[in-house]
Amino acid sequence: MLVSATEMINKAHEGHYAIGAFNINNLEWTKAILAAAEEAKSPVMLGVSEGAAKYMCGFKTVVAMVKEIHDNMGITVPVALHLDHGSYDGAKACIEAGFTSVMFDGSHYDFAENLEKSKEMIALAHSKGISIECEVGGIGGEEDGVVSAGELADPQECKTIAELGVDFLAAGIGNIHGKYPANWAGLSFDRLGEIQAVTNGKPLVLHGGSGIPADQIAKAISLGVSKINVNTELQLEFAAATRKYIEEGKDQEGKGYDPRKLLKPGADAIKAKVIAMMNQFGSAGKAE
Ligand code: 13P
Repeated sequence: MLVSATEMINKAHEGHYAIGAFNINNLEWTKAILAAAEEAKSPVMLGVSEGAAKYMCGFKTVVAMVKEIHDNMGITVPVALHLDHGSYDGAKACIEAGFTSVMFDGSHYDFAENLEKSKEMIALAHSKGISIECEVGGIGGEEDGVVSAGELADPQECKTIAELGVDFLAAGIGNIHGKYPANWAGLSFDRLGEIQAVTNGKPLVLHGGSGIPADQIAKAISLGVSKINVNTELQLEFAAATRKYIEEGKDQEGKGYDPRKLLKPGADAIKAKVIAMMNQFGSAGKAE
């Protein structure tokens, strides 16, 4: 059974580690991440952007696919199916479709509207036993058409949203979706510390988790980050392993072109990377 993320995130916050929220794009991604979580004995969140859900033929298809794969693989660790950067309509549709966690991203509205809509969505999610994440301050870069220049979240705005009863809060601290540019200034730990202080220990979410140096990840976790979103890094791993397979001519050896063979190196690379990140974030072994 898929679960709400509230318990796993609260435990991570108390235990000073973080849960990885890994974006899925298709069946291979789902299988690889679930296999990694089971092997690492780690709770896990599967993130689904609205663009990826559209690609996978809609929210209901995603719910059915993930539930069936989860049961068929005999997964025993806690797994939450989470909408990533949900719109107002998208979050409502996912709550209906059977997601066990949603993010409502109202960061592109003015704050009064973000507050009003977040409040409504928190009540709706909680009425169904679903965990919910909201966002204050844009995360830099572009993900599936959601574009933001990136900004440092206002601690007072974070406090106001935290007090609505959101389960975990995404706050901009200089993080960026996609590859980090060479001149990236790094995470703002001063701002992260201020946000954690005024939000009364609310679990915080670090978006743009691909390519952040290990010491910054460790420091962010020590300052209250309990969920780390990773998308780009798994795409790069998949692409590199697939490219290698083809460049070595393996698709031309025997039936190397069989999609189950062609996609396997990429899927194996995703699994290995997810296990490594679960060890890095400290969530490995926490579902034993
Ligand atoms: P990256 O693609 O940079 O890992 O960001 C993922 C993310 O934050 C999903 O919301």
